[in-house]
Amino acid sequence: MKKLIIAGGNRLRGEISISGAKNAALPIIASALLADGCSVYSNVPNLRDITTIARLLAEFGAEVSTGNNGEVRVDASNLRAYNAPYELVKTMRASILVLGPLLARMGKARVSLPGGCAIGPRPVDLHLKALSAMGARVALDRGYIVADCRKLKGTKIYFDISTVTGTENVMMAAALAEGTTVLENAAREPEVEELASVLNKMGGRIEGAGTDVITIEGVSALHQVEHTIMPDRIEAGTYMMAAGITRGDICLRNCNPVHCNAVLEKLKEIGLDITAEQTSVRVCWKQPLNGTEVRTLPYPGFPTDLQAQIMALLCLADGTSIIAETVFEDRFMHVGELRRMGARIRLDGSSAFVTGVKKLSGAPVMATDLRASASLVLAGLVAEGTTAISRIYHLERGYESVEEKLKLLGADVRTVSS
Ligand code: EPZ
Repeated sequence: MKKLIIAGGNRLRGEISISGAKNAALPIIASALLADGCSVYSNVPNLRDITTIARLLAEFGAEVSTGNNGEVRVDASNLRAYNAPYELVKTMRASILVLGPLLARMGKARVSLPGGCAIGPRPVDLHLKALSAMGARVALDRGYIVADCRKLKGTKIYFDISTVTGTENVMMAAALAEGTTVLENAAREPEVEELASVLNKMGGRIEGAGTDVITIEGVSALHQVEHTIMPDRIEAGTYMMAAGITRGDICLRNCNPVHCNAVLEKLKEIGLDITAEQTSVRVCWKQPLNGTEVRTLPYPGFPTDLQAQIMALLCLADGTSIIAETVFEDRFMHVGELRRMGARIRLDGSSAFVTGVKKLSGAPVMATDLRASASLVLAGLVAEGTTAISRIYHLERGYESVEEKLKLLGADVRTVSS
C-alpha cells in the first residue's frame, strides 16, 4: 500500500501549472457517447478517474485511446452494449454520467447504482426522476438502474436540489430528445457551462448554461468534436491554500481566477496577498492569518470541494473559525485525522468550530476521500516532523502529479510503498 511521507516546515515558493479539470473532463468524455465519429479532448488530467471513464466507455464498444500528453480520443460510432458494471461504477460515482447519453443514443441503459460514499449518502434520485419525466421507464433491478425509452421527450424539469452531475446527465439526454427541455434550479458550476459549450460545438442547441435555468432544444444527431478541457479550479484552490498554510509564495499558471472568485475573496479576507491576472494567480503569505466563517454552497458560493482544505488552513489562523457544510452533510471525515495532528476542532451537526493553534505535529494519518486527503497533505506540509498519509489512492483520483508539483515548490515529500 502506497503512503505519502511529508517532512513539514518548508515554505512553498515558486510556480506550477494547473491541470485540466477532472469534474469537467468526466462529463465531457461521457458526452462522446452521444455522437458518431472520433472526438478528441486535450488537457485531460492523467488521473485514476479518467482511466475509469475510459474503461467504462470501452465496455459499450467505444474505441478509446488515452495518450500521456493529456489527449483522449473517443470513437463512439459502433456502440454495441449499454451495461455499466458494478466493478467499475463502485470505484467512481461519476460513472452515473453515462446514464443520460446511453439512454439518449441507444434507448437503453443498465448502470450499477452508485452506493454511498465517505462524504454522504449521495442519492441519484433526481437524475432518475428527471429521466422518467422525459418518458424513460426507469427501474432498479438487483443493484442496477435499468432504463429504456424509444425516444426521450423534452419537458420542464425542476430540480429540488441543485445537482451538478444531475444537471449534466439530463442536459446530455435532452440534447438528443424530441422537443425542448427546460431545467430549473439547474447547477451553475463552470463545469456545467463547459459541458454545454462542448455539446453546442457538437451541434447541440443549449442556452442558459451557467444560470439556474437551462433550455435545451433537442436535435436529431450530434457530431464529433475537438475540445481543450478547462483548468481545475479545485486543484488551484488547494495549491492556493498550500501557499497560505506554509507561509509561502506560489504562482499558479493556466488557471482561471474567475472560477475561483469565492475562494479568492475568502483568502483575502483572512489576510493572504492575492494577485490575479487573466490566466494566473499568485498567493503570498505576508502576515498571520485571521479566523473567519465559511459556508459551503453551490457555485458561485464557496465550493464544498475546498472545505477540508480551508479547514486545515484555519487550524493555524488566529481565533476561532466556523465552517458550515451545507452541500454534503457528513463531509467531516478529515476532522478526526486533523485532530490527531493537534488541531482543535469541535463538530456540531453540519458545522465545525476550529480554534487556531500555534502548530501541528506530524503523525500517521489515513485519507478517507479525495478532498480529505488534500487537507491532510496541507497539514503535513506545515506540521512539525513527519506525516505519513496512507490510502493515497484517494489523492491520485483527483490530483495530477501532486508529488512532482509539491517538490517543484520546495516541499520535502515522497511516496513509499509499504
Ligand atoms: C459533483 O458531485 C462533483 N463531482 C463533486 O466533486 C462535488 O462535491 C459536488 O458536485 C458538489 O459541488 C463531479 O462533478 C464528478 P451534487 P455530484 O449532485 O454531482 C444531493 C470531488 O471531490 N443530491 O451536486 O454528485 C447530494 O446528496 C467530487 O471532485 C440528491 O439528493 O453532487 C448533495 O447533498 C466530490 N439527489 C447535493 O444534492 C440527487 O439525485 C449536491 O450534490 C443528486 C444530488
